Amino acid sequence: MTAGRVIVVGSINVDLVVGVDELPGPGETVIGGDLVTHQGGKGANQAVAAARQGASVVMLGAVGDDDFGTGALEALVVEGIDVSGVRVLSGAPSGTALIAVSSGGENQIVVAPGANARVEATVLDAASPPVSADDVVVVQHEVPVAVVERVIRDGSAAGATVMLNPAPARAVDPEVLALVDVVIPNEHELAALVGSAVSLDDAGLSAAVAAAGARALVVTLGGDGAALATDEVVTRVPAPVVDVVDTTGAGDTFVGALAAALARGEALDAAVVAAVEVAAVSVTGAGARGGMPRR
Ligand code: RIB
Repeated sequence: MTAGRVIVVGSINVDLVVGVDELPGPGETVIGGDLVTHQGGKGANQAVAAARQGASVVMLGAVGDDDFGTGALEALVVEGIDVSGVRVLSGAPSGTALIAVSSGGENQIVVAPGANARVEATVLDAASPPVSADDVVVVQHEVPVAVVERVIRDGSAAGATVMLNPAPARAVDPEVLALVDVVIPNEHELAALVGSAVSLDDAGLSAAVAAAGARALVVTLGGDGAALATDEVVTRVPAPVVDVVDTTGAGDTFVGALAAALARGEALDAAVVAAVEVAAVSVTGAGARGGMPRR
């Protein structure tokens, strides 16, 4: 396999972030620090993570015709990402995420999807040149279900390696999931795929592969690293111990780094090792992209 592109279909957001001592509970008001603005969106974060790992990256999605959208696209161009297929939608607000980050680095996120909710199902057609078998196509759940399903079908039909990061958690049509080469959920997203809580021991993960009808699961486990599970074997990759500043975007960094490694021809198990290391470094900086390392 020659090095292919990483083609990311997904959300492009601006993140409005406030640091707090403790995350608020329901109905609770807490006083935080100063408001900070970062670039974000799961799709755009994954694109940046892949680009910083040396991949040739194409971003597909939508922003509004507002200052947030302009800034978001400029930030992607600076990373060397091809944004020619991102639509700028007249009259639509750009996607925005309201994020609280605790002193322990945990976060709470509310997303106003804006233009991301208006991405069209045929979005993959905007890739130029067209998607090929050398490419890795990545999609997540911050765009409409119809988009996710069509991208998976079209990417699979083109022979590309198709990756689904089912975040935020929601169920996926089993017929569509069966077309995905690598599914990358966290524990909660895996439960949504399977329909019930999943035991994270080897037997539980093997059963989850069968229950989800997936070809391969790469389950992200936070500070415990990740587990690669197929119907034959479960391989665990521990994470190095780091000083956590902000876990926002750690999953996105993992997905982008995994895609970059697959696009340069690494086997899936080696790609998971690389992605765990890259994601571990990413949580040592503030913001979804602040700690994202370069290869
Ligand atoms: O995964 C982190 C991302 O989720 C943030 O950048 C925010 O925009 C939301 O999409």
